[in-house]
Amino acid sequence: MNLVNIPFNRPTRTGRELEHLVAAIENGHLSGAGPYTHRCQQWLADTLAVPRVFLTTSATHALEMMALLLEIRHGDEVILPSFAFVSLANAFLLFGARPVLADVHEDTLNLDERCVTELITSRTRAVFALHYAGMPCEMKELTEICQSRRIDLLEDLAHGLLAAYGGRALGTFGRMAALSFHQTKILTCGEGGALLLNDESLADRAAVLLEKGTDRFSFLRGEVDKYTWVDIGSSYTPADLLAAFLWAQLEEAEAIQQRRCRCWEYYYRQFRQAAVEKYGARLPGWPAHCRHSAGVFYLLCPSETCREAVKNYLASRGIQATFHYIPLHLSRMGRRLGYKPGDLPVTEDVAGRILRLPLFDGLTTDEQDRVIHGVMTALARGG
Ligand SMILES: Cc1ncc(COP(=O)(O)O)c(C=O)c1O
Repeated sequence: MNLVNIPFNRPTRTGRELEHLVAAIENGHLSGAGPYTHRCQQWLADTLAVPRVFLTTSATHALEMMALLLEIRHGDEVILPSFAFVSLANAFLLFGARPVLADVHEDTLNLDERCVTELITSRTRAVFALHYAGMPCEMKELTEICQSRRIDLLEDLAHGLLAAYGGRALGTFGRMAALSFHQTKILTCGEGGALLLNDESLADRAAVLLEKGTDRFSFLRGEVDKYTWVDIGSSYTPADLLAAFLWAQLEEAEAIQQRRCRCWEYYYRQFRQAAVEKYGARLPGWPAHCRHSAGVFYLLCPSETCREAVKNYLASRGIQATFHYIPLHLSRMGRRLGYKPGDLPVTEDVAGRILRLPLFDGLTTDEQDRVIHGVMTALARGG
């Protein structure tokens, strides 16, 4: 068994989490919709310039709320990249929609807008811009396509907090966007997420959906004297304890992001000079005039065999590197939806070659040098 001494991820910690947890316990509001929840929501709304934000128990639940808010029905279609996390498809499949899987760009691994145009039908309700690794999708083109066809544009920002496209924060382009605070993400509270609403007309219903289908929010604001069942809904509100933990990280979000970006750029510079020129590996790309979030750092190895050899070599040196999404269309569920190998060639190619390297707040230059040396040695051996 190999001992891991450089893990793929170490959850972000600022050192102030306990202080805020203690304050939340002492103020006696442990359940949802408490003072820390409001603080986090306000911070996200102000920082990203989004009209309304609701913390949720996960990004998956924020995605389910999107489907409920769009009143997705049996037979509707939602276009999303096959190179994606399963929740994007499931959140809509749960309500009877068909996930229509599209191919991605080879340089960003993001939805290829040319494929989107071909996949739109009279049943298409929404198009998902998943900003993979925090690299912005082609938002100008996707916005134009969706506006001209009157289809909702939705964003998955699980990796993309604080990234921008043309000077505008990601999460502000779609009608709605989902954030994740899972422990592998840039900021965390263990499990958590947020729903960002750019269409304020959805806010009242969102407040009902996440409070089990009741008008408890109106009650808490003193607008009604008792709360009752008014709509369908579920329990999507995180405990204020989780929001207290998250607040410790939002307070330092910019500094955390800058440190991550420095690590990301260090890898990029070192590999550009060596791995790319000598061994034919590929590095992440991004559209012009964009700021990425340093959500993930990955290399595209020349082949899948090479990727496996590099991953195994790193593991033998105690370094954890990993692949990413098994394309949705090649999964068991994807096959049940009628997809087969060969349907989305770019996705299949990049999913076989991608290698994600350790990246987290607190990763040292010494650790990065060991990762870089390990990758270079493995590539020099021919993968
Ligand atoms: C792109 C993307 N969206 C959504 C999710 C789901 O996030 P959560 O665990 O908060 O539900 C993930 C999980 O890794 C993800 O990678």
